[in-house]
Amino acid sequence: MNTQALLDSLDLVAEHSEDPTPQVYERLFARYPETEALFMGDTRGAARGQMLRQAIETLLDYLGPNAFAANFLRAELHNHSDIGVPTEIFPRFYQAMAEAFADILGGAWTADMQRAWDDLTAKVEQIVRGQPQTI
Ligand code: HEM
Repeated sequence: MNTQALLDSLDLVAEHSEDPTPQVYERLFARYPETEALFMGDTRGAARGQMLRQAIETLLDYLGPNAFAANFLRAELHNHSDIGVPTEIFPRFYQAMAEAFADILGGAWTADMQRAWDDLTAKVEQIVRGQPQTI
């Protein structure tokens, strides 16, 4: 996985957008409309923002010390299943992030970034399925 391309994409998104939260959830809800109703209680969007921050922090840990990422993801699967979030949607959240970031960056989004985010999504899929990690 091209760690540098992922980090570069996050840096650039931070430069281009004050807060990418709305675009990420727009993408998620467009592709998986059933997920929007889960956020009915989050009227001010605070949980959405917090969740995205945590997902990015988890990603940064994963790319760096990898101290908690996989365990944290597995714990969140458990917490989220209590509120009706299916396991399979977790990797798709990272995919929604990639799509939103590609939109935000336009021509600055590179093929390397796309591949790195595809690899990451595949990786998250392996983690949530409890499969051996090969990427
Ligand atoms: C990396 C993946 C994820 C992480 C780290 C994560 C983390 C979190 C955290 C920390 C909260 C609590 C936010 C707060 O109340 O301050 C939360 C809430 C929530 N998450 Fe996630 N989440 C992830 C993926 C997902 C996915 C894929 C879905 C489904 C689309 C989802 C649906 C929800 C819902 C419905 C809430 C509750 C919102 C509310 O308070 O009404 N999460 N998540």
